[in-house]
Amino acid sequence: MKQYLQIHSAEEMRKFGTLLGTILQPQTTILLSGDLGAGKTTLSQSIAKGLCVTERVSSPTFTIVKEYESGRLPLYHIDAYRLESGDDIGIDEYFLLQGVTIIEWPSMIQESLPEKVIEIEIFYQGDGREIQLSTSDKRYEAIMQKIVKQYQQEMSDSFEKINN
Ligand SMILES: Nc1ncnc2c1ncn2[C@@H]1O[C@H](COP(=O)(O)OP(=O)(O)O)[C@@H](O)[C@H]1O
Ligand SMILES: [Mg+2]
Repeated sequence: MKQYLQIHSAEEMRKFGTLLGTILQPQTTILLSGDLGAGKTTLSQSIAKGLCVTERVSSPTFTIVKEYESGRLPLYHIDAYRLESGDDIGIDEYFLLQGVTIIEWPSMIQESLPEKVIEIEIFYQGDGREIQLSTSDKRYEAIMQKIVKQYQQEMSDSFEKINN
């Protein structure tokens, strides 16, 4: 299943991420792709906010994995950019835990990824972005549909507020 969302500003991206963070269930793996500056870190930080993580979430580039335990669910933030296939960081351990795992640059560790994932791809679209959500898993499909519906609802609510 694939779904698309139009994101017009960084603020909307944060709204979407925060909503995602409030809806996500235990043991969820998210693959996050997009060019430099597309908004991967912005989105990860707002997912963390939605999970009620109180620590500051920064880009994990130089540490590869960052673990945040203060939220509603643990958050494992992995940046695979500097990994090479064959590097063993015990990544499959994370998929078994009850937390949310976000993997940036998943293409670098293609052969180590679990079968069931939510894929989020961010594409530049002028000043805005298009988000492509996809999954082949039934449980994730239900969550994805819920997120898209709630996000669109929230957007049309704020649109009505502006115009009334
Ligand atoms: N629609 C948008 N979605 C996300 N970020 C946006 C958007 N428009 C502008 N920005 C800005 O683009 C930058 C994205 O940076 P970042 O999240 O670090 O990207 P990445 O981690 O993918 O390299 C931020 O400065 C953010 O404010
Ligand atoms: Mg980043």
